[in-house]
Amino acid sequence: HETLADKQYRPKIHFSPSTGFMNDPNGLIFDGRYYHLYYQYNPFGPYAGHVHWGHAVSTDLYTWQDLPIAIRETEAGEAYSGCAVLDRDNRSGLFPPRTQDKPQPGAVETAAQKAAQLFSPLPGDEQERRSVDRQAQDLLHGGRTDTDLLKELGNDPVSREQSPVPMSPALPPMAGGLVAIYTRATPQRQTQYIAWSPDGGQTLKDYEGNPVLDIGHNSFRDPKVLWHAPTEKWVMVVVRSREHKVSFYGSFDLKHWMHLSDFGPSGITGVDYECPALAEVEVEGETPGEKRWVLFVSINPGGPQGGSITQYFVGQFDGERFTPDDTIVDLTDFGKDSYALQTYENMPGNQTVYVAWLDNWQYCEELPNKSWRGIMTIPRKVVLRRDTSGWLRIAQNPYQLEALRRPAIPFALSRLEPQSSRQVALPTGEAVELLLDVSLEDRGSTLPDGDHGRAGRFAVVFSNRQGESLSIGFDGFSCQLWLDRSNLHGFSHPFFTGTFSSALIPGSRRFSLRIVLDACTLEVFANEGMSVGTALVYPANPLETLSLQVTNAAAVIHKVALYPLRQTMDR
Ligand code: FRU
Repeated sequence: HETLADKQYRPKIHFSPSTGFMNDPNGLIFDGRYYHLYYQYNPFGPYAGHVHWGHAVSTDLYTWQDLPIAIRETEAGEAYSGCAVLDRDNRSGLFPPRTQDKPQPGAVETAAQKAAQLFSPLPGDEQERRSVDRQAQDLLHGGRTDTDLLKELGNDPVSREQSPVPMSPALPPMAGGLVAIYTRATPQRQTQYIAWSPDGGQTLKDYEGNPVLDIGHNSFRDPKVLWHAPTEKWVMVVVRSREHKVSFYGSFDLKHWMHLSDFGPSGITGVDYECPALAEVEVEGETPGEKRWVLFVSINPGGPQGGSITQYFVGQFDGERFTPDDTIVDLTDFGKDSYALQTYENMPGNQTVYVAWLDNWQYCEELPNKSWRGIMTIPRKVVLRRDTSGWLRIAQNPYQLEALRRPAIPFALSRLEPQSSRQVALPTGEAVELLLDVSLEDRGSTLPDGDHGRAGRFAVVFSNRQGESLSIGFDGFSCQLWLDRSNLHGFSHPFFTGTFSSALIPGSRRFSLRIVLDACTLEVFANEGMSVGTALVYPANPLETLSLQVTNAAAVIHKVALYPLRQTMDR
């Protein structure tokens, strides 16, 4: 049954599952019409386990429609994290040849026709395959379907089992289609599987020759595959988790994989490397079209903020080996609730856009909401930008969030005198976006002054009548940003730490903030995305007021705008 907490903390623009437990985003791909979001999913309860692949689709990355479970736990193991690619030309041979692909006598063969002949498609007709599916189901749950199980567990399966989206052919006819590459996991073994979709991603059918990659290992998981055009092959990044190695494999058909190289241990090792991602990312400004490769590696546990975190490396990738440009190790986030990010495959304009799990393994199974658990971040666009020392760092910003803005809440303000504040009421039950561009004026002294900070502090405070508050602020002496969720009383846990900080531009008293607050999620993008903080936030009572406050120095407000955001998720 849905509790008050389940309702109160349910995000309005972020994806969360209707019931059950969700972790990593999987199979992120744009198929020309739909953005797919598959995800690690336990449909049976609000805890990690019995991992299936849940599935939703969207045309804007904010409005998601649930689809039936795409990959199930079977007797071969749980369906751990993985990715999806579009095999347009049926290089895998997984897709049965379409009638129009059958060579006509005397006709010139297309590449697709050749491929279809080279690789024999899965034997057996549809009926046979269905019966194999049923047999697996029987083995797993003693003949009961997931729907039965969900009913027994008191969950409402209807929304999951009825597909609200007609999955009409997404793209101009292709010889192939969508292929998922993922890990089958048992306590003894983790191996890589592939599954192909006969219907644009709605159902995924395991290849009968699985596993396609088995090194006899029990911590070898989370394949992310991309098409490497210069060498005309697929490249897989996958981790040997406990050894802190990212392994690179290459394939021409997704079925046969050749080991190319290894990267690591490098950076922060933590206990396990998980969910690697590799993307060619645009470098802002300077030379148009300049790109560099970024390798993302999630670590859990052992992140510097505690628990789960994602680090990244900037470098070159030649189709075989990743070579970092420098020895810098950086994290994608200064908070502790952004994990296991995956970049979207096939994004329009080759943009790099990712979605991460807005959570942390330290407390994800004990959150106050109980009938559902797990939230995805909003989609974030990544570019590379030089920092003040000239190093290329990632800058991350909300992707096309502007489309959700409703008319701004009037909030005219150009200056705040020292020890003053300005308040505005927050809309009830809506997600909001706050934009700020602020300079702290020089106070003429850097000497300590009580507890107001030496050279001025600026704070954005979300609060309520019950005395709870959530603040994001800037300290003018140290030029650092803080995020403080400790004065919220809806959740306490030894690892649910309260405050986080990030160093902004040394010596600069000007900073910008873009803050998205949606139910129990807070995302802070500072200085056009150079510093990003993601945090779960659990006020016991709704936050009602936004206040901008300054102490010990005057603040010039170059820009302030507060937007309610149109609700996209109706659960
Ligand atoms: C990361 C992770 C992956 C694994 C999945 C299991 O959060 O531990 O390494 O594939 O979750 O759900």
